[in-house]
Amino acid sequence: MMPRRLEGRAAIVTGAGRGIGRAIVQRLATEGARVAALDLDLAEAQGSGGELAIACNVADSASVAAAVAKAREAFGRLDIAVHNAGIGQAPGDGSEQFYDAMARRNAELADGGRSDIFVDQLIHMEDRGWAAVMAVNIDGAFYLAREFTRVLARDGKPGAIVAISSTSAQSGEGSPHYCASKAAIIGLVRQLSRELAPRRIRVNAVAPGPTNTPVMQGIPPEWIASMEAAIPLGRLADPSEIAAAVAFLASDDASFCTGSVLTANGGSYFL
Ligand SMILES: NC(=O)c1ccc[n+]([C@@H]2O[C@H](COP(=O)([O-])OP(=O)(O)OC[C@H]3O[C@@H](n4cnc5c(N)ncnc54)[C@H](O)[C@@H]3O)[C@@H](O)[C@H]2O)c1
Repeated sequence: MMPRRLEGRAAIVTGAGRGIGRAIVQRLATEGARVAALDLDLAEAQGSGGELAIACNVADSASVAAAVAKAREAFGRLDIAVHNAGIGQAPGDGSEQFYDAMARRNAELADGGRSDIFVDQLIHMEDRGWAAVMAVNIDGAFYLAREFTRVLARDGKPGAIVAISSTSAQSGEGSPHYCASKAAIIGLVRQLSRELAPRRIRVNAVAPGPTNTPVMQGIPPEWIASMEAAIPLGRLADPSEIAAAVAFLASDDASFCTGSVLTANGGSYFL
């Protein structure tokens, strides 16, 4: 039986259309919250199970401000904000060259030989590719936290912010912009937890390990197998398992947790 810890609360979730975001919407709603599901793709947000669906680009501060205002107006309150929207690659970020070199290198190694092929991403990364990932992953976290806090400050209400980081923040596995943005989430959460504590706004992060979402479907199966082999629990996470960690941090069960990073990675990395 699912707990109903969020009865009477109102939540806003970004990147809610699919994957982990959709699972978070469903978990918060099942626990009793009224949920506004925000996504670039309105049709996907509408299918997420949230009471309210709003088209929102988290990389655009005006779009975030409008969405937060709309949710506040619809629900008459806001208690929880979850920054989940995130991307791992963008046009011009060198990922095409990276995947191409990786495939050629793996083919040489599989042939039983050695490989001298460099697997570079950095030297192919254009400013626009770097900026596009940072804009969604970390600028978006800042915009959401700011707008949500402005509403709570006006209402004189406490609240909870949860941001989705990644094991990549600590392990360095992944691309330069992705790892940097996910580490920046942790710095932001730690700073905000201190600044916002007097307002009784708690700020925490969840750091998932590899999770079985649509984003994984673009990854070659042999890479998935090697990821699973590196996870002590022996499998990818289900999105519902990440959502459960978010629901805990959003709830009063985590009333003394702020500035923390909750890992959900099957034991693959200790933060
Ligand atoms: N899947 C994993 O293995 C994994 C591991 C660690 C961390 N994460 C993080 O979890 C979060 C969710 O990952 P996922 O695998 O469910 O991703 P996903 O790609 O399956 O879903 C992401 C959702 O975010 C939306 N989105 C993208 N850009 C947006 C923008 N600018 N504004 C609003 N919405 C936007 C997409 O439309 C999509 O619905 C991300 O922050 C990701 O970095 C994922």
